[in-house]
Amino acid sequence: MLTPDTEFDHRRTDRLVLRRFESDDVSSLAAYRSDPNVAQHQSWGTPFSEAQARVFIDSLGAAHPDTPGEWFQFAVVEAATGVHIGDVAAGIDADDPRLAKIGVTLAKSAQGQGYAAEALAGLLDYLFFERSKHRVTAECDTRNASSIALLERLGIRREAHHLSSAWYKGEWTDEYVYAVLASDWTNRRSLPPAAPR
Ligand SMILES: CC(C)(COP(=O)(O)OP(=O)(O)OC[C@H]1O[C@@H](n2cnc3c(N)ncnc32)[C@H](O)[C@@H]1OP(=O)(O)O)[C@@H](O)C(=O)NCCC(=O)NCCS
Repeated sequence: MLTPDTEFDHRRTDRLVLRRFESDDVSSLAAYRSDPNVAQHQSWGTPFSEAQARVFIDSLGAAHPDTPGEWFQFAVVEAATGVHIGDVAAGIDADDPRLAKIGVTLAKSAQGQGYAAEALAGLLDYLFFERSKHRVTAECDTRNASSIALLERLGIRREAHHLSSAWYKGEWTDEYVYAVLASDWTNRRSLPPAAPR
């Protein structure tokens, strides 16, 4: 599929809902983006104000997932409580929209429960099975241990180690590139789920 998903509303996983951001998410988004631990390896600085959160959410209002050349951020919500706990994102390649990049952020209080893995698996199911992507990549700072553990827990392959390749927060940082092909993900989804460690 090579056109934006204008019909997208939400997606369910076992314990989560991935949905469009809403104006009521302003304070929760500002709160977790303002946590220095959460922001450490991310592009934004702290504090992240409610005004910034509002601009960010407003900018997504007219956007759709799977738009070539654009990132789309999905709010991650606990299905049982409706509490907004983080976000996942997919950026679609401008030149070849069969290629995508992904990212994930969870509030500190929501980490350590397998929610990030569940949310990213839901996003990969969407990208590969509903949107027919061929290859999905994720880049992360080589010091981002929790992100590395998450990507490897999902069985995503580390394909590259780029030295001093990204300028983040006043310094050149090394990055790993992780990648998963549609064929990899189809095989992985046919296996029983891994037990939590
Ligand atoms: C990266 C990030 C999303 C990882 O979150 P996370 O909660 O550690 O990842 P998971 O959801 O996979 O949870 C795994 C943990 O939950 C535990 N867990 C508990 N119940 C579980 C369950 N039912 N299923 C699976 N895992 C479970 C696992 O044992 C594991 O614990 P451990 O970290 O002590 O080994 C989070 O650290 C984050 O938001 N960081 C800041 C933003 C960031 O840097 N993003 C990445 C940019 S590239």
